[in-house]
Amino acid sequence: MMVIRRFSPSDIRAVMDIVKSSLGETYPPSLYLTLHNIWEDGFMVLEEDGRIVAFVAAVESEKQVARILMLAVLREHRGRSLGTMLMKALHAKCIANDIHTIKLEVRKSNKTAMSFYERQGFAVTGEIENFYVNGEGAYVMTKIIDN
Ligand SMILES: CC(C)(COP(=O)(O)OP(=O)(O)OC[C@H]1O[C@@H](n2cnc3c(N)ncnc32)[C@H](O)[C@@H]1OP(=O)(O)O)[C@@H](O)C(=O)NCCC(=O)NCCS
Repeated sequence: MMVIRRFSPSDIRAVMDIVKSSLGETYPPSLYLTLHNIWEDGFMVLEEDGRIVAFVAAVESEKQVARILMLAVLREHRGRSLGTMLMKALHAKCIANDIHTIKLEVRKSNKTAMSFYERQGFAVTGEIENFYVNGEGAYVMTKIIDN
């Protein structure tokens, strides 16, 4: 059974494992609590048969603008529309919270994610040099929600 639900603090370990394996990062557990506290609706996990296999973490970075900080699906579960389902769930939370724009940054080398976001209705609206710790630049992608 598949369910998308709000992140809970007891999910930290599972989410950290996905961040490590899919995004190559290790952040302190407190970061996840902080994100959860900023916008509970924007931090969701996708659970399949009781195991968390994907998640999205977004914050309301400015008034009526959501910013996706992380989105990842465990490698062996990619290409099954789980990322699309999480984006749809986030979209619904944005509408419910009167948010009209979603923004994110993506590594310039991450063509898979860029084409994924384009299919979700995002377009490149800017770029930021040296955005990542390794010096890589990011594209800013934006989606306007028209409900
Ligand atoms: C970007 C990401 C979240 C997409 O999640 P996903 O669940 O694979 O996405 P979907 O299945 O909804 O769509 C993926 C598309 O990739 C293609 N695809 C097919 N098989 C695939 C596979 N094994 N792996 C990846 N993509 C595949 C499909 O063409 C699909 O497009 P479609 O909608 O035209 O069928 C996922 O690739 C991921 O976690 N990447 C690593 C982390 C990352 O880069 N996050 C974004 C940082 S900004």
